[in-house]
Amino acid sequence: MSPKGLSMNPIFCALDTIDEARATSLARGLRGSVGGVKLGMEFFYARGPQGYRAVAEAGLPVFLDLKLHDIPNTVAGGIRAVLPLRPAIVNVHAAGGLAMMRAAAEAAQEAGRERPLVIAVTVLTSLDETDLAATGVTGAPADHVLRLAHLAAKAGLDGVVCSAHEIEGLRRELGPDFKLIVPGIRPAGSDIGDQKRIMTPAEALARGADVLVIGRPITGAADPREAAEAISASLAA
Ligand code: C5P
Repeated sequence: MSPKGLSMNPIFCALDTIDEARATSLARGLRGSVGGVKLGMEFFYARGPQGYRAVAEAGLPVFLDLKLHDIPNTVAGGIRAVLPLRPAIVNVHAAGGLAMMRAAAEAAQEAGRERPLVIAVTVLTSLDETDLAATGVTGAPADHVLRLAHLAAKAGLDGVVCSAHEIEGLRRELGPDFKLIVPGIRPAGSDIGDQKRIMTPAEALARGADVLVIGRPITGAADPREAAEAISASLAA
């Protein structure tokens, strides 16, 4: 298992807001019903370490989704700067290259046994083949995802963020210990919002996801705790 360990509950609720009071009250309300929460760059740029701490005080593991991408020295400095916050998961863009990812992994080691999992973002799901070609990456996006995931593993990273449809291929190629963090999850019958290639939580878990990142189906529910518990129940069924 990971150095910090992921709890038995694979659900991380994405708190996509810059409202600290709302994020904090959601995190408190979800304690015991989810495995953790995700705070992104929007929240962190707006509310900073102080806002982060207010949310983390709820006691849930935090995935700090900052998607770092810069020269190795700067990314290592960014990781080091957030270690005192004790996030459970941090991430970087695999496109930053092998040396950058190695620098991120090494910086995280400085937290010792409490180190966060360091995860790579491969190809943003907002990019299709045409968008990738315009950046000079030719070929199928799925091949590029695999190439970057292998590079992440070589750099010593713990896993990747991937779409539910990439789980099986990545699991097959990268082995059982490589963490797969999966957004774009929708409980059966829920509003899909702007997500296009969705999957139910139970199906994504059955395919081999380690963490399910779920936002609006929980945060947009009249009773977020009840929604999270219904999703957990669907996993146990
Ligand atoms: O509300 P929803 O469940 O769609 O939220 C999913 C979360 O996962 C959001 O924070 C979103 O930014 C993130 N994400 C995603 N798709 C990706 C990568 C990240 O939806 N490919």
